Amino acid sequence: MFMIKSVAVIGAGTMGNGIAHVFALNGFTVKLVDVSAQQLQKAIETIGKNMDRTIAKGLLTSAEKENALKNLKTSESMQQGVEEADLVIEAATENTELKLSIFKQLDGWAPAACILATNTSSISITSIAAVTNRPDKVIGMHFMNPVPIMKLVEIINGYATSTQVTGTIVQLTEKLGKVPCVVNDYPGFIANRILMPMINEAIFSLYEGVANVYEIDTVMKLGMAHPMGPLQLADFIGLDVCLSILKVLHDGFGNPKYAPCPLLVNMVNAGFKGVKSGEGFYKYTLGSKELIVSERFK
Ligand SMILES: NC(=O)c1ccc[n+]([C@@H]2O[C@H](COP(=O)([O-])OP(=O)(O)OC[C@H]3O[C@@H](n4cnc5c(N)ncnc54)[C@H](O)[C@@H]3O)[C@@H](O)[C@H]2O)c1
Repeated sequence: MFMIKSVAVIGAGTMGNGIAHVFALNGFTVKLVDVSAQQLQKAIETIGKNMDRTIAKGLLTSAEKENALKNLKTSESMQQGVEEADLVIEAATENTELKLSIFKQLDGWAPAACILATNTSSISITSIAAVTNRPDKVIGMHFMNPVPIMKLVEIINGYATSTQVTGTIVQLTEKLGKVPCVVNDYPGFIANRILMPMINEAIFSLYEGVANVYEIDTVMKLGMAHPMGPLQLADFIGLDVCLSILKVLHDGFGNPKYAPCPLLVNMVNAGFKGVKSGEGFYKYTLGSKELIVSERFK
């Protein structure tokens, strides 16, 4: 087994700040790396605020917060950020070319024994591993959003990932208080292979006029005990992200059952991406938690 004490997180966005938060809180030395100084600053503020919320709930002390923040350093230089790392977790923007270029650099800069993990939602772990000289030490560590709250980590074995590396990452995940599930590297892994066709089917049901937004989401919430309906969840994930994952499934399996609904394609092309753009299946107003169906679907 590998000894993991020092962790570098590449990308300080939504997922990167959550991953850094969880490792720092569990006593690991964390270097958070981003190309944007502004993102790094924002990430540290977000981590502080999220820890304050946990303190307010009585689940964390101020001393534990201080200790966690002491474990956390930021860097705009990936080379400096990873040169002492035992584990790197890449959580940069979901773009294949970008990830391949990051992994080529990581392979040159991280210590030879360092495990290289990626938080990608949809890009093949095997093809990321293939651009390095250590494919046995490349693995998927798919955290869920929001990272400090969600228990699951989907661990994805690339074609060449060694069993020793998988075992190390499983143990590490448990040390973080999370639940590991090991799966193999095929398009969408498990989470998105099952979730995205459900979301796509919900959009097809709306497109074909089977039911409206409120009815589709309410059937799934009250009938299946889902905490959120599939259309609301799609808005939350980002309709552009849903579309791109469906394209990965469609291309990867060559099966028409994964073809994205034309309504989803239209909405993304028109800039209606869900929560992040202010409107998708629902309309979002800053500061309001009320769920209002978009005028377009009334
Ligand atoms: N958001 C989710 O719900 C979610 C869930 C699971 C997995 N993921 C995956 O996590 C990864 C990150 O997603 P996100 O939602 O946090 O994205 P995000 O857009 O919030 O953050 C991405 C960050 O990467 C940084 N970045 C870009 N190029 C970089 C580089 N060369 N070096 C260092 N930093 C760089 C950007 O500045 C940005 O801060 C993606 O692979 C995504 O598929 C996202």
